[in-house]
Amino acid sequence: MFNLFRHKKNEAKLFYHTDVHCHILPGVDHGAQSLEDSLEMLRAEKEMGIERVILTSHVTASTFENTPETLLPAFELLKKAVAETDLDMELHVSAEYRIDEFWQEQYQAGNLIAMPGNYLLMENSFQQELLGLDETLFDLKCKGYNIMLAHPERYAYYAHRKQRLEQLHGMGIKFQINILSLAGYYGPQARETALWLVKNNQVDLLGSDMHNMEHAHVIKEYIGSKDWRKLVPSLQAHVINDLVH
Ligand SMILES: [Fe+2]
Repeated sequence: MFNLFRHKKNEAKLFYHTDVHCHILPGVDHGAQSLEDSLEMLRAEKEMGIERVILTSHVTASTFENTPETLLPAFELLKKAVAETDLDMELHVSAEYRIDEFWQEQYQAGNLIAMPGNYLLMENSFQQELLGLDETLFDLKCKGYNIMLAHPERYAYYAHRKQRLEQLHGMGIKFQINILSLAGYYGPQARETALWLVKNNQVDLLGSDMHNMEHAHVIKEYIGSKDWRKLVPSLQAHVINDLVH
């Protein structure tokens, strides 16, 4: 089944080995639905040169109200399944935290699962920037967290307000850009903002944001392209994925 999608062998590899954003943990959001899905996606990551995967399932009010009680058992299950295969990968569990009322509750209750290096992947609302975003991010930084903003290029309200992106970056917020955005998967606007961020040296981390094998195929195809190869030197100079320890 898997091979049906592969017309020719594409051996392109990423220049870093840690994926900091993906939805590969099974059955907790709209990413991987089964252990089988998870293993197939992990194999795709490995083929692209990824050795360490930080599992960042959605934590979102009403749709995916994940907590350590839902994420940690799924993580144990996945680790066990991986150990029974020949896949040699380092796995970590964290989450993609949408800043909303559920997150506020979880934060107050001390229920956040940070990445190695005390990094948190934070997601903005897609409708509009939250009131008090700066205060929230500043508060997290004061508590000792390192903040990654998930795919800033995908929030349409920043596309024509790039000075706001510069301001957030200047506050020490790390920007995590999706390779899918560079590939044009979310449309021309997200790609244009992503390219602007590359040009302005504001891409700190890259992520697959992989939810399924379609995403894996698009990324694989894109990293074999000339377009990607042209961006690699400037990305390589700034991207710190492998320093998330
Ligand atoms: Fe995501």
